[in-house]
Amino acid sequence: MDLLLLLTSALLCSCGPVNTESVFQIASVTLSIEPRAAVRRNTNVTLRCQASVISLAQLNREYTLYKDNSVIYNKNTSSKEDFLYHLPEARVSNNGRYKCMVRIMGQEMTSKSEKLTVTGMSPPILHADKSRTTEGEGVTVRCLAPGETGSFFFYFYDNSSEIHDEHRNTNQAEIKLPLSDIGAHMIHCIYKVFIMSESVTSDESNTVIVTVEELSIKPFLEISPVNNIYEGDNLTIKCSILGFNQSHKGMNLLLNQGTNLLSVGNATAAIEYNMMVEATAPTLSFDCRLTVKNLIKVDTKTIRVTELFSVPQLIMSPPEVFQMKPMTLICKSQHVALERVNKEDLTYSLDPAEHFLTPNGAGIFSGRALKNEFNYTCIAEAKGIRKRSGTLTINPKVPVSVPSIRVADWPILGESFRIFCQSSKGSGPITYSFWKGKTQMGTPIIKSFGQPAYISVVINDVKEINLFTCKANNGGEEEQQSAALDTAVIEPITNPILTVIPDPVEGNDLYLICSVQGTPPVTFRWFRHDKETPLKVTTSLSNNSNYQITGLSKEYSGMYYCEADNRANFKVQSDLVDVEVRMALWKKALIGGVLLLVASLLIMVSCVLYYKHRRGKRETAAELSVKPASPKSDESLTVNLTHDTEVYNAATDAVSFYDDKVGRVTNGTRGSVASLPADISNRSSYSIPATV
Ligand SMILES: *[C@@H]1O[C@H](CO)[C@@H](O)[C@H](O)[C@H]1NC(C)=O
Ligand SMILES: *[C@@H]1O[C@H](CO)[C@@H](O)[C@H](O)[C@H]1NC(C)=O
Ligand SMILES: *[C@@H]1O[C@H](CO)[C@@H](O)[C@H](O)[C@H]1NC(C)=O
Repeated sequence: MDLLLLLTSALLCSCGPVNTESVFQIASVTLSIEPRAAVRRNTNVTLRCQASVISLAQLNREYTLYKDNSVIYNKNTSSKEDFLYHLPEARVSNNGRYKCMVRIMGQEMTSKSEKLTVTGMSPPILHADKSRTTEGEGVTVRCLAPGETGSFFFYFYDNSSEIHDEHRNTNQAEIKLPLSDIGAHMIHCIYKVFIMSESVTSDESNTVIVTVEELSIKPFLEISPVNNIYEGDNLTIKCSILGFNQSHKGMNLLLNQGTNLLSVGNATAAIEYNMMVEATAPTLSFDCRLTVKNLIKVDTKTIRVTELFSVPQLIMSPPEVFQMKPMTLICKSQHVALERVNKEDLTYSLDPAEHFLTPNGAGIFSGRALKNEFNYTCIAEAKGIRKRSGTLTINPKVPVSVPSIRVADWPILGESFRIFCQSSKGSGPITYSFWKGKTQMGTPIIKSFGQPAYISVVINDVKEINLFTCKANNGGEEEQQSAALDTAVIEPITNPILTVIPDPVEGNDLYLICSVQGTPPVTFRWFRHDKETPLKVTTSLSNNSNYQITGLSKEYSGMYYCEADNRANFKVQSDLVDVEVRMALWKKALIGGVLLLVASLLIMVSCVLYYKHRRGKRETAAELSVKPASPKSDESLTVNLTHDTEVYNAATDAVSFYDDKVGRVTNGTRGSVASLPADISNRSSYSIPATV
């Protein structure tokens, strides 16, 4: 009451002088563990929290105790005494770090933390509800951790092997162990206490021996007959309980073949089961199963079964057949138990029944193949047992058609090219062979349907191309031969010749004709040898082409050549041709005329000058007459020289007579007659010079 008044007055007079009553400070907080931090189990441990507070008044204190940062206790007190927390008879579960916090009027302080370590755990105690039991019954065991606290894991061991674990928050665990094996079982347990993320493991418990005794009853399986069992035989199978007495309750019997349940029974009704054996496997295994509570006891027996006849096989002869060709199917069981079944009793049939095929002896069916794929199975049957063969798929082959022969690209003389051969029909594999005349080229090539065969060849003569043929065969009766290969062959270009017509004359047109040998189309190019770019490029379907120059002039003079190539892609070049452009005719004529004119002018001028120089001297023509006209050899000859009086009038001029052979023979005057000597009179002719 005093304190309340004091506080009230302190609050009311807060603006007044300092109230010393409300002044306080927490000086220190310490936690100590008594008697010490590390103790043995069962020690009475005390945690002491001591707070030293400076104040005048008695202030209310709030203590909070933490273990591993979790609050485990909280208390308000106005006492100045230390705060004590007891851990009577400490256990390992008390292990941890402790600290305490003190709060006074909003002010608080926490101690350093202290670690408590308790060592030692009580050994576990194991108890079993019985020491003898029968198989399937099991035993109830309890594992106890006396006086321990905390969170537990219990582990149970059978003959040192861990067989069970169990989590509990109490210090004991009770479980039921099945214990199936007959004989003694040494059982013990341990436990673990969990503190935070760690655990502490106890010692082993005492060992309890539990003996499991075999159950006196068991299942019994009986099969008859036991030996010489053939498929189709009848079997009697009994599944019963041996050593049964009324004390046993809740029993079940199951009869199985493999995983197939055949029949069910119980303690009072044993199973008797009859069946016809099927030879699904060479051995058949049966089991008789007795279930008592959790226990299952099994008796198993295996019998050997002999087939009456094996599963038939269906085969075709021949193994391959062409459409509509004869074929035979054979259905046969490889093994037949002749001691049990007669050959005549074993029958074979086709499924679908005799489809276009007729039976032709036991298990033999003959006929012609269909055009399409067809599936057959066959069935062998004897003594009511049927066995079916696997499916035989017959896929009749299609005969190969006449193959076509071709080349992929233009064959070039002297170069390798490929010849292809392919049949448009026919089941693969197809064998192709290539022929040149009567010679086979290389080895036969095997291709599947739709794939062409090919070879690479070289020919050096165009005519060889038509010698090639190919043959196709897919195992049928006849081989098919193609027609002869028919295709153009490209001859590479040879012999380029450049011809120039007509004579290159100024002003005229000129043709540069390039001609070659080889297969058109041909690409021609004309060049002037001093220039790199062609004058003209043209592709022609004939083996020659020309380049025309119109209006020749001197500048066109030069060396020319041409180039040519075709699809053989081999370029050739002609020789160089010299073109020299000559002057035009009219120019020559003009020049000639002018020269003539100049010459005649010169002559005239010189004549005039000559006459002027000779003054009286004249020039004249003389005329000679000879008598007789045909003189005899011994006659003398009279030669009379007459003058053209109009021209010749100089009386004193001398005349000379000349013989063509001997020269001048005599002199005379104008109009004179000369008598010539006989020895020269037989001359045939005389002459006088023009100028006398
Ligand atoms: C521990 O305290 C209990 C009473 O709380 C007392 O009976 C016991 O004897 C004490 N043990 C020891 C070892 O002092
Ligand atoms: C034949 O049987 C095969 C499977 O075995 C099947 O894929 C096929 O279609 C059958 N052919 C015919 C013609 O029935
Ligand atoms: C050009 O072809 C013709 C036939 O078209 C032939 O007569 C002539 O010889 C060929 N000339 C050359 C140079 O091959």
